[in-house]
Amino acid sequence: MNGNVRAARASAPAKVILLGEHAVVYGFPAIAVPVSSLRVFAEVKPNSLPDRELRITGAGLELYSVPSSVSEQADDALAYTVRLFTQMMSVPPPNVTITIDSHIPIAGGLGSGAAVTAALGRALALASDISLPDHLLNDLVYEVEKMHHGTPSGIDNTVIVYERPIYFTRSAGYDLLTIGTPFLLLIADTGEKSLTRTAVADVRRLREASPNRTEKVLSAIGDLVTQARQAIESGDPQKLGSLMTENHELLCELTVSSRQLDILVKAARQAGAWGAKLSGGGRGGNMIALVPFDLEDAVRQALYDAGAVRVFRTVIESGLN
Ligand code: MEV
Repeated sequence: MNGNVRAARASAPAKVILLGEHAVVYGFPAIAVPVSSLRVFAEVKPNSLPDRELRITGAGLELYSVPSSVSEQADDALAYTVRLFTQMMSVPPPNVTITIDSHIPIAGGLGSGAAVTAALGRALALASDISLPDHLLNDLVYEVEKMHHGTPSGIDNTVIVYERPIYFTRSAGYDLLTIGTPFLLLIADTGEKSLTRTAVADVRRLREASPNRTEKVLSAIGDLVTQARQAIESGDPQKLGSLMTENHELLCELTVSSRQLDILVKAARQAGAWGAKLSGGGRGGNMIALVPFDLEDAVRQALYDAGAVRVFRTVIESGLN
């Protein structure tokens, strides 16, 4: 690969889970959508000196230590990504400089880790003129997700790699969703870190301590997701919103909300959102609000007034959004 490598740049989007996080880890369905306006870019450039070093630079990468070499032990997500890529594609370690430029808040429940891996995998493939089909990239990102999250369901890597709204279960994989009517989401950042690994581990403990009660909550979340799929496909955002709010209440029972998430959810609803909930691992990170188009400004302002540190928007429609 070293000899033929050329400069290449690729990207991958953020994601939000519309409904079903945590329950999806236990086999229930969940719905996720890409946030194409928030992206990670990975750039790969051949090194001029034959030092066979991998250099990784970039802003906003606090969760990653900078590896000195791809042959290092797999204790770094970026080095691990490169190693998996070289193993999967049977190519030698590349003599390149990699620059990661992420516009996705880290530890915000927006899939920043999976997006970094997906963008890097794509850039490495482009740089070495290798075809890396999405299903293989998805496998690669899933492997790296295990390093970040322990027991990931696979929904984050899937929605990020395919960049389409999906209905997902662990056993059956993903179905692409048809969107009956485009709908607007506001995504508000609490500014608190969301550590998915910890939240997932705590839900596991809760399930062990109170199996019946927890199973009921997880299964009730699964039912909401089934109804939500219908609401999305038939174009009923009002119904979808109320299902999201119900989902938030069940996530509170799983102990994965936080005071600030609850405050933002309440503020969005009071300002006219059809529904709102935390999104992703919880305990911090981001919440989402499903908002009538004519109330966008009012809900955004209410979120800032209630302490949101950033508010993003995305419109969900069939195909790329
Ligand atoms: C994280 O985005 C979603 C969780 O359900 C974890 C997972 O599915 O792996 C909390």
